[in-house]
Amino acid sequence: MSSRKRVFDLLRTINIASCQCPAHGYRGNVQVSNITPSKDYAFEIKCSTVRYGLGVTQEVGMDLVNLGAKNVCVMTDPNVVSLSPMKAVLDSLVRNGISYSVYDKVRVEPTDTSLKHAIDFAKRGGFDSYVAVGGGSVMDTCKAANLYACNPDADFLDYVNQPVGKGKTTMEPLKPVIAIPTTSGTGSETTGMSIFDYEEIKAKTGIAHSALRPLLALIDPLHTLSVPQTVANFAGFDIFCHALESFTAIPYTERGPAPSNPALRPVYQGSNPISDVWARFCLQDIEARSSMHLAATMAGVGIGNAGVHLCHGLAYPIAGNVKDYVPKDYG
Ligand SMILES: NC(=O)c1ccc[n+]([C@@H]2O[C@H](COP(=O)([O-])OP(=O)(O)OC[C@H]3O[C@@H](n4cnc5c(N)ncnc54)[C@H](O)[C@@H]3O)[C@@H](O)[C@H]2O)c1
Ligand SMILES: [Fe+2]
Repeated sequence: MSSRKRVFDLLRTINIASCQCPAHGYRGNVQVSNITPSKDYAFEIKCSTVRYGLGVTQEVGMDLVNLGAKNVCVMTDPNVVSLSPMKAVLDSLVRNGISYSVYDKVRVEPTDTSLKHAIDFAKRGGFDSYVAVGGGSVMDTCKAANLYACNPDADFLDYVNQPVGKGKTTMEPLKPVIAIPTTSGTGSETTGMSIFDYEEIKAKTGIAHSALRPLLALIDPLHTLSVPQTVANFAGFDIFCHALESFTAIPYTERGPAPSNPALRPVYQGSNPISDVWARFCLQDIEARSSMHLAATMAGVGIGNAGVHLCHGLAYPIAGNVKDYVPKDYG
């Protein structure tokens, strides 16, 4: 029995050590008990409501009326603000008599500094709902702004993933976010992740909490028409990696121990039969731009529940060191 216990102790140590990837190894503040640990035996699938259709952005104003929104923050970046997706959103808001303020200072590839700028705006605005119009950079910034505006006394690192931050799991309820992706890549419209460069350590990290998940994602293939070639290529590769990595992620039954409370089950739980379906779909269907747009969301549900591993883990310390490289077509 004692050797069996030593094996379990070793596995437990490896399990904890292998979860140090700051963005994808999130475990929250799970209290590991001292009894012999077991692997997890359950997984759950969480996803934003997804509405897909050509021109579906025109419905956003009605969605906000349905939510009873009185003071909406529309977030975007300095480039997308003057493009047709933003025009479609604002037209719908005006048509439905929604009061809104626009924040168009989102940094492409957000940093902790740029997030804090957006958080200040959100805190001052006292918004009751958010619309994020843009790529992953915009959606992730919007999630963070909502989180800290609803938890104004929190220190920035409180919710950042361990070991960079404290990975706090308790928070005040957040305001609804409607995400309108304009790139076909991150799937951020369905995930509880917000990724940013933490400048102090020159690496990407993130905040992971299911409360960050947008309430509704409007997937409008019309927005893909203006996406520059390089952005489309790189974003397509992001989808491919999400699908491939979530499909090959450690099975949920091999991760553990099971949390002492289901609320503490991590955002990324390992591959499972349901996330596999989403991942498989994307691996087969990434050719046409409009299919890509849906494929991004599908891979988002895969990654948002199963997680990613080596490709993303390797990319984060590299991305955090980029100072001068601006790929063609990126603002
Ligand atoms: N939260 C998550 O689950 C998740 C998952 C993967 C990646 N990410 C993060 O998302 C970020 C990258 O997001 P992204 O790849 O969507 O790109 P992005 O938001 O950084 O935008 C890239 C460029 O494309 C432009 N652009 C966006 N939509 C456009 C359109 N319709 N027409 C013309 N130009 C357009 C932007 O202005 C910008 O210059 C990274 O920070 C990455 O780490 C987050
Ligand atoms: Fe990614």
